[in-house]
Amino acid sequence: MVPYRCRCSGGLITTLVAAVLVCGAVAGTMEVEYSWVYVDYTFASPNHRESAIKSGKFIPENCVILDVDIFQGPSEEKLYFNMGSNSNSAVTKQRVFVTVPRIKPGNPASVAEIVPGDRPSSVLLAPYPNWKANTISEDTINCNDTIISVFRTKIDYLGRFWIVDVGTLDQFDITARSVCPPKLLIFDLKNGDRVIKTYKFPSSQVKDVSLFTNIEVDIRDSKGRNTFAYITDTTAYKLVVYDFKNDESWVIDQAYFYPYPNKAHFKIKDVNFDLMDGILGLALGPIIKNDRKLYFHAFASIRESWVNTNTLQNKSLFQNGLIDGCGTFFLSSEVRETQSSVQVMTDNGVLIYASMDNSLGCWNIQDPFIPKYTHTIYKSDKDFQFPTGMKIVGDKVWAVSNQLQNQFTTMVINRNSVKYRVLVGRVDELIKRTGCDKRSAYEDIKMPSNVQKLYPSKDGLVFSGKIK
Ligand SMILES: *[C@@H]1O[C@H](CO)[C@@H](O)[C@H](O)[C@H]1NC(C)=O
Ligand SMILES: *[C@@H]1O[C@H](CO)[C@@H](O)[C@H](O)[C@H]1NC(C)=O
Repeated sequence: MVPYRCRCSGGLITTLVAAVLVCGAVAGTMEVEYSWVYVDYTFASPNHRESAIKSGKFIPENCVILDVDIFQGPSEEKLYFNMGSNSNSAVTKQRVFVTVPRIKPGNPASVAEIVPGDRPSSVLLAPYPNWKANTISEDTINCNDTIISVFRTKIDYLGRFWIVDVGTLDQFDITARSVCPPKLLIFDLKNGDRVIKTYKFPSSQVKDVSLFTNIEVDIRDSKGRNTFAYITDTTAYKLVVYDFKNDESWVIDQAYFYPYPNKAHFKIKDVNFDLMDGILGLALGPIIKNDRKLYFHAFASIRESWVNTNTLQNKSLFQNGLIDGCGTFFLSSEVRETQSSVQVMTDNGVLIYASMDNSLGCWNIQDPFIPKYTHTIYKSDKDFQFPTGMKIVGDKVWAVSNQLQNQFTTMVINRNSVKYRVLVGRVDELIKRTGCDKRSAYEDIKMPSNVQKLYPSKDGLVFSGKIK
């Protein structure tokens, strides 16, 4: 694998200086947007906060930010200043959400929105959609409405906020227990956070060891009715397909969802740990001829796999348990340097994946998945320890790193050091001059005319390109 590119700009002198100072130390263009030493919430008052800490309902060191999601609201009415000119500006309201799964006791809310403010670090988290939905009263839990524990979420192009609730508490603790069935909650960010849907997964689709960790959302029509969600069951090694139109789900069992025992060992900083984790990373490819691929990989793996989503959507194929997948599921013949957690894909088919060596890599799906075509585009041992969440929104990639390895040990960690970070980078700058950016090699490369692109407008989704 080629080493990550050193990003140097400016005049000759600064270029030389930067080359000496920057290369090999800090690379790249992921900027820390938010950071936290410990998470804190918008408690109703300092007294509420104090009593939550006293009663053990809030143990700050047990609250770990895992995923991030961004909603670019519709541009608000253009503001016209009565200044005799037509100067105006469209203001886009951006909302940033994070998940804080209840992996240990003392976590007051599992989905939260970052409270905009002028504090760059330790911004407060406001429970989403509100405190009530995030409050667990142990004796009478209402599984319909209560958000128990959420690992990852997905905001789709239509402003629907898909939340996968694993239904278990204290996942990383000896007190781990399942209190509700896993469920899918869909909120409408464009309509006052109205609940669109609550779907409980049938018990036949949930194993004792199940953990629904990640979700991708595949919209196939302009109104969003024909939509499928693909949900990873990382510890039962399954992929769950949810059909939004028919409000039903089914489970797919396939060998490529399983971990590789020889890749189950991880080392970050000085922490060694073993995780036999299966399918985790998901990314949807461009729509080509009314089909698109789902790219995926197990966490304990260094390979990439893919499958046509039209296959996943055909429920009848998966009635009889484990399928051999010959000719439908594909496995890369070659490997990455290290395991990868989460990944995203651009509209043009550039996969960006987070690696467990504190880096980001890229691969263009037009190339074979071999080391010659996988490139490291960012690496930071300080800022990017254990990336666990990633999204692509517009021309930017957003990621979370959280030093999760420290939750696996009893090692005392520095109480004052930054542990959780939300980072942002521009996709075009990250992949520029790597083989992932086909435009740099062929400046005028055109997408094949049968590629359909989806983009949002005020009337819903619009397809460009040919639709058959
Ligand atoms: C939960 O939802 C189910 C199905 O909609 C309903 O039958 C049940 O009464 C609800 N339970 C509560 C506590 O609201
Ligand atoms: C689903 O798969 C079955 C079995 O292979 C096949 O007969 C059927 O045509 C498929 N349905 C669709 C909609 O592709």
